[in-house]
Amino acid sequence: MSYSIAIDGPAGAGKSTIARQVAKRLGFIYVDTGAMYRAMALYLLRKGIAADDGERISEACKDADITIEYADGEQQVILNGENVNGSIRTEEVGNMASASAANKEVRIKLVELQRNMAAKKNVVMDGRDIGTYVLPEADLKIYLTASSAVRAERRHKELTEKGIECDFDAIERDIIDRDDRDMTREFAPLRQAEDAVLLDSSYMGIEEVIDSIMELFHGKK
Ligand code: C5P
Repeated sequence: MSYSIAIDGPAGAGKSTIARQVAKRLGFIYVDTGAMYRAMALYLLRKGIAADDGERISEACKDADITIEYADGEQQVILNGENVNGSIRTEEVGNMASASAANKEVRIKLVELQRNMAAKKNVVMDGRDIGTYVLPEADLKIYLTASSAVRAERRHKELTEKGIECDFDAIERDIIDRDDRDMTREFAPLRQAEDAVLLDSSYMGIEEVIDSIMELFHGKK
């Protein structure tokens, strides 16, 4: 039997940092499902397929082979034989992922991959629909959120530190738009599962959130 922890929530709430650390402490595998949607988005961008072109996306779902490998404990996304980890973190890919993730066929394809991974290994999986749709029987479900202002502030700091010029208001607007797309799509939208524990990282440090999740998991096991 394998254990699974589902961490869902809006963009920029700190899910990946926290999920990665929790997985490390427990010796579980960290599964970043957003990276899979980004790989699919990269495929669509390269082929010049629009996010609302259902017919061509349907074809793309058959042609894009997405698999996951691990190197030094880090998830590597392989798209038709190419490791695309270095190409999926751009704004362009992020925006396309946000738009194309509303497509049902894209979701069904990637959810199958995610469920197969959780069936074989102990996982901490983060995303938007893990507790509600991908792993409804997860041992622990966390809904991690933070105010849009706090999330925009973190993103602004991250970009500024990288030397990238950016506008705080534009970042916050982008975050609100992405949340809106994730929460209002028809198929498997972002929402808190009934049995998920709500954690708000607006005023909690990373370590505090990780410790809370560890305590919750050990209490449930
Ligand atoms: O988490 P990340 O920003 O890398 O995800 C990229 C996009 O993929 C998100 O904006 C979201 O719309 C989508 N996504 C999703 N379901 C998931 C993970 C990500 O719809 N489980």
